[in-house]
Amino acid sequence: TILVLDFGSQYSHLITRRLREFNIYAEMLPCTQKIKDLTWKPKGVILSGGPYSVYAADAPHVDPAVFDLNVPIMGICYGMQELAWLNGKKVGRGEKREYGPATLNVLDQSCPLFENVDHSIVWMSHGDKLHGLPAGFKTIATSDNSPFCAIAHESKEIYGIQFHPEVTHSKKGKILLRNFAVSICKAAQNWTMENFIDTEINRIRQLVGPTAEVIGAVSGGVDSTVAAKLMKEAIGDRFHAIMVDNGVLRLNEAENVKQFLGEGLGINLSVIDAADEFLTKLKGVTDPEKKRKIIGNTFIHVFEREAENIKPKSGEEIEFLLQGTLYPDVIESISFKGPSQTIKTHHNVGGLLENMKLKLIEPLRELFKDEVRHLGELLGIPHDLVWRHPFPGPGIAIRVLGEVTREQVAIARKADHIYIEEIRKAGLYNKISQAFACLLPVKSVGVMGDQRTYEQVIALRAIETTDFMTADWFPFEHDFLKKVASRIVNEVDGVARVTYDITSKPPATVEWE
Ligand code: XMP
Repeated sequence: TILVLDFGSQYSHLITRRLREFNIYAEMLPCTQKIKDLTWKPKGVILSGGPYSVYAADAPHVDPAVFDLNVPIMGICYGMQELAWLNGKKVGRGEKREYGPATLNVLDQSCPLFENVDHSIVWMSHGDKLHGLPAGFKTIATSDNSPFCAIAHESKEIYGIQFHPEVTHSKKGKILLRNFAVSICKAAQNWTMENFIDTEINRIRQLVGPTAEVIGAVSGGVDSTVAAKLMKEAIGDRFHAIMVDNGVLRLNEAENVKQFLGEGLGINLSVIDAADEFLTKLKGVTDPEKKRKIIGNTFIHVFEREAENIKPKSGEEIEFLLQGTLYPDVIESISFKGPSQTIKTHHNVGGLLENMKLKLIEPLRELFKDEVRHLGELLGIPHDLVWRHPFPGPGIAIRVLGEVTREQVAIARKADHIYIEEIRKAGLYNKISQAFACLLPVKSVGVMGDQRTYEQVIALRAIETTDFMTADWFPFEHDFLKKVASRIVNEVDGVARVTYDITSKPPATVEWE
């Protein structure tokens, strides 16, 4: 195992991710981790980048005991500056920030770090730089702007690199990380998703013990389903899944979840119909943020109430809460200041933990979405479910613009169902990252038969994206759009017109609210 000490860079988790691509397991811990508290000995240590300046009074620093481990160490960006700071303090503000591509000029090609990595493009993102070589180090690579682009200790296996090998813009960065882990640290390449399942199941069993019980919310989405299935494999019926039907789910969703999670995957599931409660609270509300808050708070309320109704066989209280949090969900919260990543998850569940005094289990917290999908397939979750488009927590409430009523939800739902059905029929579902229909609170004039109509407008959205931070609209064939528009106007009462949203993100967002 490689230990990654995280100084808070937005790219830190990519390091562990890249290593997994070479079947190397890495564990990421906060940069303030005390080495004496580690229960295992790492084969090597990577110090990540970070947003701070090493010379600032409140800058985070690594436990000096890391150097007594006598294993190879590599500092990336802030990590390299940290190495320099500890060995002579020659770090300061650069005249210019350096952000973007640079060409790596390797001086010492015999350095094992650079096997197959010469003269490639690397990605820079830093404001501080080294003003000189730290004591005992030599330069092993330069770039146009960085005379100390990479450094190495004269006699020990300690390396510093100014660029970010973990981002894909560094063309051979992955190879460099592998060189460090495999050639230099001699880390084993035996991590696989199959092993991950075994290890995680064992970890869950140990954590939960022989009698304690676990509760968790499921939504029908990929993440909560995979987490629930993993839990089921680990502790069987001592895991209780609760699905809250908030009245703004997709068409037939509660019924479908009952079938594929409850009956199909054999998960111990209660489906709670709380549609009236949610819709009553949403009455008269048109502000998108208010809708989100109401749905979030009502969810907590209903979930807690239902949790009380579950009586564990052991007669004890339920002790744990399962969360299907993925790495991107915690991305912003990883900070050396926080007492670990759990902090953000409190926010994610908006207070569930505080009120319920539950301990948190997050088996997917290290994984990225595509890894969760792979995991889901290995756990035997049906392919269509594993590849489902994401669906927002506030559901159709943020796709019915203006006031959310049962009638409006029914219209939006029906139109959405037709749209998705046609997308599947056309074999486009997996080419699109997310697609849905929105119901606009405006009426427009139409004509059907000989009758004038005056009904609402449906806007269709379909996007392609890798990370949902930026997105582009999907270029459907005209005939496809024609067919969907015609079906929606003909089959959905209350709709007289269909439009297709051709805005990218930014400037628009994916959802309309
Ligand atoms: P936006 O609209 O922010 O959407 O461009 C990006 C992705 O996030 C989803 N989304 C949400 N998911 N609760 C959620 O669970 C929310 O309040 C929420 N708002 C947006 C959206 O569907 C898209 O996948």
